[in-house]
Amino acid sequence: MHNTKVYIETYGCQMNVADSEIVMGILKNHGYDITSDINAADVILLNTCSVRDNAEQRIYGRLTNLKYNKTQKPGLVLGILGCMAERLRKELIEDKKIVDLVVGPDEYRKLPAYIDVAFNGGKGIGVQLSRTETYEEIIPYREDGLQAWISVMRGCDKFCTYCVVPFTRGRERSRKLGSIVDEVLQLSDRGFREVTLLGQNVNSYYDELHDFSDLLAACAEVDNGMRVRFTTSHPQDFSDKLLYTIAEHKNICNYIHLPVQSGSNRILDLMNRSYTVEHYLQIIEKAKKIIPGVTFSTDLIAGFPTETVEDQNMTLELMKAVEYDGAYMFKYSPREGTKAFKMEDDVPEEVKGARLQEIIDLQLDISLKINRNLIGKRDTVLVEGFSKKSDKFLAGRTDTNKLVIFESVNGFKPGDYVELEIYKATSATLFGTVV
Ligand code: SAH
Ligand code: SF4
Ligand code: F3S
Repeated sequence: MHNTKVYIETYGCQMNVADSEIVMGILKNHGYDITSDINAADVILLNTCSVRDNAEQRIYGRLTNLKYNKTQKPGLVLGILGCMAERLRKELIEDKKIVDLVVGPDEYRKLPAYIDVAFNGGKGIGVQLSRTETYEEIIPYREDGLQAWISVMRGCDKFCTYCVVPFTRGRERSRKLGSIVDEVLQLSDRGFREVTLLGQNVNSYYDELHDFSDLLAACAEVDNGMRVRFTTSHPQDFSDKLLYTIAEHKNICNYIHLPVQSGSNRILDLMNRSYTVEHYLQIIEKAKKIIPGVTFSTDLIAGFPTETVEDQNMTLELMKAVEYDGAYMFKYSPREGTKAFKMEDDVPEEVKGARLQEIIDLQLDISLKINRNLIGKRDTVLVEGFSKKSDKFLAGRTDTNKLVIFESVNGFKPGDYVELEIYKATSATLFGTVV
């Protein structure tokens, strides 16, 4: 008898990527083997996302494919983890007979027990949310590499009216600072060069003793050759102390992902975002003053209920005012159980599409302009590996998270810091030469 082999596929945000590593850590501790070969697996797990309808449709599509795997291998256990498991619960098993396990984000410790239930022909369902679970002492299973995600807090208490996350992830709770610093230290010893601290509202981190600025400073001080990033910040909890902490530590990246969602105060209010455009722009102003060279990215939603052309134009104006390096842009998707679900989804699909396209086009223009302004300037990248297109070129990222391609010379290798001069730019990529 070989050890039971588990294959896991991850969808959704980086929190899910980090959670999959926790799941693999738990399973390894229980004697399971992790495999990257789906055909060798005795257990297939999908760690899923519910944030928009199309995220869930992808999983239904995937389940249809996996029916075949089950007919090929009777006894194969198929499990749904993550936000869809939490949102749909036993409905998922009733609807999709091929699903054996439905385990939500706060029940992963019991996964080995649920897998046993499934091997014995039962269905394993674990969807309780917890006010305290942080998987603090679980060592995530990570391949060696340069970059790691570290989940520092879980859940969300913001209840934006469009969003399922507070329902799928439960209440906010933070890990103790010490456990996070230890994890950074272990990663540094293993040769990692970059960590990203993760939370749905990472800057509302609070462990009863330390706030997010304290945590960020403590992580940065572990190894000053290691870059520290963080995501996602909410404008409401963005303190001056945080800005000064970023400015004071060279290895905390000067890059802030600060979702704004809309440029219209009326829509922001309907979304329950708890800030105004004016307040948001003040944070941006202050950040630019305190952290020279700081850059921003954002999330935007097109076509929220009642959104008018005027609201859309305010969003475009805001984008021009901030000049984001990049943006994640979405069409509004009604989610059952949220407050906005009760509002009429009154922006027609083709209008939503057209507005989204307008936002995307503007962002491409802005990104291109920002990148072209960098031609002739110098910046340091952390080398990540060969470029996608050729082994003669390396790819690295600047502190501000921009991808730079450059010719592989002087034996530079992944993990090195290299100073480059930029000579060419597209909206997505920079090209540099070693100085
Ligand atoms: N906690 C983070 C990220 C939440 S999910 C934050 O507050 O910013 C990532 C993004 O998905 C959100 O920022 C939002 O832009 C988008 N999103 C969430 N719910 C959505 C919905 N129902 N329809 C469309 N986009 C949505
Ligand atoms: Fe969702 Fe808002 Fe929480 Fe972000 S802050 S996860 S958008 S409810
Ligand atoms: Fe999706 Fe859940 Fe993340 S809904 S965006 S996987 S928190």
